[in-house]
Amino acid sequence: MSSKLSIFICQNCGSETSQYFGRCLNCNSWNSIVEEIKNKRSNYQEITNSKKSIPFNEISSKKISRFTSGFREFDRVLGGGIVPGSVVLLGGEPGIGKSTIVLQSAGKISLNEKVLYITAEESLEQVKIRWERLNQSSINLKIFAETNLSLIIEEIKRLKPSFAIIDSIQAIHNHEMQSSPGSVSQVRACSSELQNLAKENNIALLIIGHVTKDGALAGPKTLEHLVDTVINFEGDNISSHRLLRSIKNRFGSTFEIGIFEMLEEGLREIKNPSSIFTNKENISGVTTTITNEGTRPLAVDIQALVNKTFYSNPRRTTTGISINRLHQILAVIEKHVGIRLSEFDCYIATGGGFEINDPSSDLGVAISILSSLKNIPPLANCSFIGELGLSGQVRKSNNLRTKIEEAVRLGIKNIVVPKLEEEINNNFQNLINIKEISNIKEAVEYSL
Ligand code: TYD
Ligand code: MG
Repeated sequence: MSSKLSIFICQNCGSETSQYFGRCLNCNSWNSIVEEIKNKRSNYQEITNSKKSIPFNEISSKKISRFTSGFREFDRVLGGGIVPGSVVLLGGEPGIGKSTIVLQSAGKISLNEKVLYITAEESLEQVKIRWERLNQSSINLKIFAETNLSLIIEEIKRLKPSFAIIDSIQAIHNHEMQSSPGSVSQVRACSSELQNLAKENNIALLIIGHVTKDGALAGPKTLEHLVDTVINFEGDNISSHRLLRSIKNRFGSTFEIGIFEMLEEGLREIKNPSSIFTNKENISGVTTTITNEGTRPLAVDIQALVNKTFYSNPRRTTTGISINRLHQILAVIEKHVGIRLSEFDCYIATGGGFEINDPSSDLGVAISILSSLKNIPPLANCSFIGELGLSGQVRKSNNLRTKIEEAVRLGIKNIVVPKLEEEINNNFQNLINIKEISNIKEAVEYSL
């Protein structure tokens, strides 16, 4: 038994109600609620004889077999490659390079697997022009320019590719619905149909979605729970670096990053990313820290500029770390190193504007500030790792061993860290000079 059920969905925020309102109860936008038809199945129908609960012990776990995206950095973000039957949502601002990366990847995958690239935004000729620019080779890559969902589904069923790409979800539409392409209900309806298709036919599906200025996946925000993996493609207009960052991943760890560079001939992966965020100069106001992004350690410079202020309220700005963290670090310095900073402006910027979320960068920020204030360079060829506690102590850091290994790999000679277990210290003897400290004062005495 199946019956039709009306639901009302806000086109702005995606919230559902059972009746019509002129104003959304969730986001307060006016006239944004639209009726949608939902197929409701009777509960009895779903429980058939073949569907029964079974004991855990009887389930055999199959190892997930993955195929490579053609980029090591992309694979890393996906948790080790593309999982057949999985649905990946790739979000990013317009013009950041989403179509470029997927087209390059599609070319590489097609050397081993059957790939279908569905372009809903650009014509075949436009894609061909990009393709020529990228200088790729392909064997099994098919391209389909279409915006109509049912035609897209038919083509996927006919071709049965291993990997299909939808570029982009905001440009396709389901003819049975009246709302325009890109609206929340279109995006949701199209994605859930595509998702079912992918699962039923074991096709890996990559859906591209545009992000609005405030960083939310427009419409696709409501998709995040539907897909297996959500990846953001980030970067800015100034530098050519691009970052892939996993926000959600059912098949791997989250907050894993992959780093690329946008060149004339497309995206190139950066194999030694620590080198692009550090300068290895020994000047006042600059230190290096090693942060953890996903499972990867990464060296990043921290620059500080501390100047006498001309304002009644000193200026504090940051690029790459949160402003609240800076306020906290300044307060710790005032109290526990005994230096008044209220007469000084303080600017902090990370190398390449790289966004650091790891709190173990605190010590590097503090030493940069003090180094700029005193106008003396910190100890040469030295990295700083440690989270600053409010009482001036340096707290333990996650994955300290991998961070020290990264420092050794980069040829860094000195490293200032929180107190270690004996065993780690012994492992690194002769490779790097490790200075263990327990509070900020010790760090300052040692390095400045
Ligand atoms: P695109 O992949 O079209 O972005 P999106 O699909 O995310 O909207 O990338 C567009 C930008 O990338 C455009 O500004 C030009 C630049 N670009 C290069 O610098 N090199 C290249 O080889 C290509 C194809 C694009
Ligand atoms: Mg595009």
